[in-house]
Amino acid sequence: MTGRLRLGVNIDHVATVRNARGGAHPEPLRAAQIAAGAGADGITAHLREDRRHITDRDIEQLMAEIALPLNLEMAATDEMLAIALRHRPHAACIVPERRQERTTEGGLDAKGNRDTLRPIVSRLADAGIRVSLFVEATPAQVEAAVALAVPVVEFHTGRYAHSDAANREVELRRIADMAALAAKNGIEPHAGHGLTFDNVQPVAAIPQIAELNIGHFLIGEAIFTGLSGSIARMRALMDEAR
Ligand code: PXP
Repeated sequence: MTGRLRLGVNIDHVATVRNARGGAHPEPLRAAQIAAGAGADGITAHLREDRRHITDRDIEQLMAEIALPLNLEMAATDEMLAIALRHRPHAACIVPERRQERTTEGGLDAKGNRDTLRPIVSRLADAGIRVSLFVEATPAQVEAAVALAVPVVEFHTGRYAHSDAANREVELRRIADMAALAAKNGIEPHAGHGLTFDNVQPVAAIPQIAELNIGHFLIGEAIFTGLSGSIARMRALMDEAR
């Protein structure tokens, strides 16, 4: 049977808007509180090396004030490892990070960076943090995740979300096949990036996928319908697809 699909709400872009004026409004913490009331199962925040949106203080506040599990997105660096070990969020999703990129543009090369990742994954895991790797849905990346013994992979849905109708089916198939392969190997598959009301349902219908992490669209749509409204509609579409 297909289980309930969890929704992790990524609040990075609440911080983007706040930082545009350098003040305190709008507060990511308040967004997280509203998300909790609107049907989110978790909060996701990416503490980037350049602190362009989420800040260290945001992570402190989220950890202190939010009852929902926090999924900390982080680059595989010593600085981020130390921060994760200090806060001990429920989960840490390791993402690739390049300063010049506008957003996380591709998956982590878990296969090519296995030796760098191994000690980071094991220190996070030893601290009781559920480790996830944000990867492209390919057999090589799933195999690397198996070798690193992570409990979770998050498949990058950017190519699916941004491809034309002809290629979208191919991208979807790839994600579905890799979700099945991950689950067969005891790894819980998640997915995220670029998901919207229009494209979420085929991904939500993949039975092995346990969680979607969605940010930019939900925060953008909140301008028109309010944050509770945008999250509730996403939640309803996900449940319907299941
Ligand atoms: N998952 C990961 C690992 C991400 O890096 C991002 C983007 O920050 C998302 C999910 C959410 O993507 P979007 O903001 O496009 O919904």
